[in-house]
Amino acid sequence: MSDIENPTGDTRPIGVFDSGLGGLTVARAIATVLPRESVYYFGDTKRCPYGTRTEDEVRSFALQAGRWLSKHDVKIMVIACNTATAVCAESLRAELSMPVVGIEPAVLPGARTTRTGIIGVMATTKTLASAKYRHLKSIAPKEVRIIDCPCPGLMDCVEAGEFRTPHTMALLREYVESLVEAGADTLVLGCTHYPMLAAAIRLTAGPGIRLIDPAPAVARQLKRRLDEPGLLNDTKKAPARIFCTTDANEARERILRLLWTDNAVLQKLDGSVRP
Ligand code: DGL
Repeated sequence: MSDIENPTGDTRPIGVFDSGLGGLTVARAIATVLPRESVYYFGDTKRCPYGTRTEDEVRSFALQAGRWLSKHDVKIMVIACNTATAVCAESLRAELSMPVVGIEPAVLPGARTTRTGIIGVMATTKTLASAKYRHLKSIAPKEVRIIDCPCPGLMDCVEAGEFRTPHTMALLREYVESLVEAGADTLVLGCTHYPMLAAAIRLTAGPGIRLIDPAPAVARQLKRRLDEPGLLNDTKKAPARIFCTTDANEARERILRLLWTDNAVLQKLDGSVRP
């Protein structure tokens, strides 16, 4: 009997949600750690950035996304958005019947990595202002200095596919140079969009600066969460990877092809299926 005739585990997809396409950096790590798993991606590109929204808006949009993913029979939801995790991970866990995994700035791994004892955390203003983030800092080693670096405009550069334009580089100089000048040797990428700017950030920061992207750790945690209750997909059937957004354009299609494969397709949700 083949694996397909006798499936074991749970073949339902993993739901990945972000305000935009930043969550693709997390989806990519998930596909590396869990190559057999199908992924259903939902990016709320029409309403991003969430970083400038009110908490009520972020909560309501994220809940809509969770319900939409739930309707598409995902077995678990990954909030591939630091801002939404900071604002409403608990609400999503309370409201949705599926398990929910979030993401947070890698402050503790950053604190373990630094040699100068100074780390910079690049994230949205909303993430940095959240109680969740304040708690994270309160449990970090006291001898490590943590410099918060809100980065307005940076996620918009990514969504526009502007990974290294003069405007993006000017913003990065403004944000990154001050961190390096203050002695930070470790930069925590606390927004899932920023790993797409890793090359430009390195260029701006100069040699010897370490960037920390929590996506691989989230993917490993997800694997454990699925493994314990027997929710991993044990079949050898090729996984499906579906990418849906509430808005699409040429730049976003290019970003998807860049992060995924040349033949990946961005499906724009029409009004009837939009959450
Ligand atoms: N990718 C989201 C995050 O990790 C971007 C936030 C936004 O939409 O402003 O925070």
